[in-house]
Amino acid sequence: MESKKQLEYIDKCSRIVRDRAGFLGRPLTFYVETFGCQMNERDSEKLRGILEKAGFEKNDSEESDLVLYNTCTVRENANTRVYGRLGKLKDLKKRNPEMIIGLCGCMMQEAHVVEKITMSYRFVDMIFGTHNVYMLAELLYNVLTERKMTVDIRREATEIVEDLPMDRTYSFKSGVNIMFGCDNFCSYCIVPYVRGRERSRKPEEILKEIRSLAGDGVKEVMLLGQNVNSYGKKEEGGVTFAQLLREVCRVEGIERIRFMTSHPKDLSDELIRAIAEEPKVCNHLHLPLQSGSSRILKAMNRRYDKEKYLELVSKIKSACPDLSLTTDIIVGFPGETEEDFQETLDVVRKCGFDSAFTFIYSRRSGTPAAEMEQLDESVVKERFDRLLALVQSTASERCGRFAGRIQNVLVESVNRQDGSLVTGRTENNLVVHFPGGEELIGQIVPVRMEECKGFYYYGIKAE
Ligand code: 5AD
Ligand code: SF4
Repeated sequence: MESKKQLEYIDKCSRIVRDRAGFLGRPLTFYVETFGCQMNERDSEKLRGILEKAGFEKNDSEESDLVLYNTCTVRENANTRVYGRLGKLKDLKKRNPEMIIGLCGCMMQEAHVVEKITMSYRFVDMIFGTHNVYMLAELLYNVLTERKMTVDIRREATEIVEDLPMDRTYSFKSGVNIMFGCDNFCSYCIVPYVRGRERSRKPEEILKEIRSLAGDGVKEVMLLGQNVNSYGKKEEGGVTFAQLLREVCRVEGIERIRFMTSHPKDLSDELIRAIAEEPKVCNHLHLPLQSGSSRILKAMNRRYDKEKYLELVSKIKSACPDLSLTTDIIVGFPGETEEDFQETLDVVRKCGFDSAFTFIYSRRSGTPAAEMEQLDESVVKERFDRLLALVQSTASERCGRFAGRIQNVLVESVNRQDGSLVTGRTENNLVVHFPGGEELIGQIVPVRMEECKGFYYYGIKAE
């Protein structure tokens, strides 16, 4: 079995790491940096788990014996950042020639990126992609024993490898992959090319993982997939996402369930009912709009129009009146006119999003939209600013509705600026700071929402 093979490689690496640490008289350290989304965050937990098991010690700076960047390529600026940072790593490696530099993640699934790195960044030791994160120990073993650049990129995943070590960022909350990849091919998006076709994990594997997380003290899980609403659709006699969600609610110890991301085209009534009926499912839905113009939505290949989106939102809001609705919006898609943009503003006004991630369209080579005629940058920037102003005023107005109410807050950390406060999140995903100590971390505490600061609150613990 693949996981057994990988555990053997972890063991082989750990022997080399131990010898080397003995020789140096200090432990070998590693640093993993994650760019991009929650999927990558979750993959990084796997990468860190493998490295720790292989005997490396976690470090919080790039002055480490092994540095790994888990990259993103959804927008061009993510790529630019990685190239910039690589320059810095080159200098560090000059000072420590034994240093191992690895690159993985979405950006590595693009042929032109790998070509550029193997040609012009020869100091990189290891390159792998999104489909073989589980192979880190095997690739590392190769680097440790042969000291030559190891490149292993797969076009498609062959299997879902379960049961490898994991180093979770938080003790009390965790992401859980329920599916990988995407089949939607929105015309601007590179994800289907770098993350491959949609594959769902088996419900029993997901539930097993969540039960074990609950056993470790995890209270909140976030079910992760590019398009969770199509969970299980390719499987024969498959469990639907709503059914899976209800099953997860039955896991004892799990008190909150979130999920990301929903595609409006297949958000079912069954799911809306589950959100409304199941108390553990958080009062928050992230539903990417992308554009309010039906014409642009068609060009984006989103398979819903403005009316369908508005109808969906009104259905959700009447079923779950207290729900927080968040979204993603792209400005400046090829061919977007001022009229199209006005349609987007109109949807934002009508839906009253609690928050919205706004993006300037970024041309991704290989996607259909990259071949379309692109807009003038200054026009796009000006629209972006107008959208941002509207989104921010709507969001702060929505945030205000909680003033004076008592909300359950899962405490995440001691406040970085003021050590007498702790910081946590409500079910609606609002950040709240309130007086309290470290002992509250990981607990769900009732808090009176005292002062709204636009996007977050100051509160006081309620008895
Ligand atoms: N340009 C700008 N934004 C994009 N997104 C995806 N691809 C692009 C692109 N090429 C945004 C979408 C998606 C979010 C994760 O990133 O809004 O929902
Ligand atoms: Fe990209 Fe569309 Fe898939 Fe989301 S649903 S990852 S935007 S192709």
